[in-house]
Amino acid sequence: PLVSMKEMLEKAKAEGYAVGQFNLNNLEFTQAILQAAQEENSPVILGVSEGAARYMGGFKTVVAMVKALMEDYNVTVPVAIHLDHGSSFESCAKAIHAGFTSVMIDASHHPFEENIAITSKVVELAHYHGVSVEAELGTVGGQEDDVVADGVIYADADECVELVNRTGIDCLAPALGSVHGPYKGEPNLGFKEMEEIGNRTGLPLVLHGGTGIPTKDIQKAISLGTAKINVNTENQIASAKTVREVLAAKPNEYDPRKYLGPARDSIRETVKGKIREFGSSGKA
Ligand code: G3H
Ligand code: ZN
Repeated sequence: PLVSMKEMLEKAKAEGYAVGQFNLNNLEFTQAILQAAQEENSPVILGVSEGAARYMGGFKTVVAMVKALMEDYNVTVPVAIHLDHGSSFESCAKAIHAGFTSVMIDASHHPFEENIAITSKVVELAHYHGVSVEAELGTVGGQEDDVVADGVIYADADECVELVNRTGIDCLAPALGSVHGPYKGEPNLGFKEMEEIGNRTGLPLVLHGGTGIPTKDIQKAISLGTAKINVNTENQIASAKTVREVLAAKPNEYDPRKYLGPARDSIRETVKGKIREFGSSGKA
C-alpha cells in the first residue's frame, strides 16, 4: 500500500534497520525499485526531486505512474512517494495535493527562524493530509539537480532540538558531512553529533548522500538512530554503465527496450543490495 514514512521509520528505528529512499528518474527506475522492494519484502521510499518530477512530466504523472505500477506488479509492501529536497511551501503543497504521501522541506539554507516558519507551515498542511514531513539542518555537500552546496556545514544539535520541538516534523536530516554524488576519498561523517542529535530529538534520522558510504559507516549510522538512507547516484551509475556496455557490444541497436531493459535489471540488483545492507529485507 501507499503510506506515509511515519510508521515505516518509527518501526525501523525501534528495530534497528534503515529504510532506503531510492530516487526516481524515469519509468525504468520506478519499475526496478518497486520490483526490488517486493522481491526483498521490504518497505521502500520513492524519492522524487523537483527536477526529476519536472523531467517525468510533473507530480501528478509521478503519482499516477507509481499507483498504476503498484497495481500491475501486485506490490504489497509499504511504499511512500516522497518529495526530495522540496524547495518551498508551494512546492510541498503541490506535491501533497497531487497525492505524495511524504515531503521533505529543505529550508536549511534560510536563516534559522525562517526555516522554522516555513517548515511549520508545511507540517500543518502535510499532517492535515496524513502526509509525513522531513526537514534538514546544515548543508549536504556536492550537487543534486537544483540543490548545490559550496561548503559542507554541520547541523547544530541545539538548533535540531529546537526545530523538532517547534515544528512537529516526523524525521530529521542533520547534515553531518555527507555529500550528494561520489565522495572525494572516504566520507567523514560526524557520528558524535549524530548520536547526540538522535538522542536529544528522539526522531528517526535521515542520511543523505548514501552513495559511496562504506558498510561499516552505514551500520554505525543505523546504530545511532539513522532510519532512512537516501541513494540516487549509485543507481544512476549502474544504469549508465549497463547502457554503455549494451551499446558498445551492439553498436547498431536502436530499440530502447534492448538497452533500458538491461539498465532496469542492474538498477533492481543495486537496490536489492542496498536493501540488504540497510537491513530492511523481510520487514514489510
Ligand atoms: O536526496 C537524495 C540523496 O541524498 C542521494 O544522494 O545521489 O549521493 O546517493 P546520492
Ligand atoms: Zn539529498
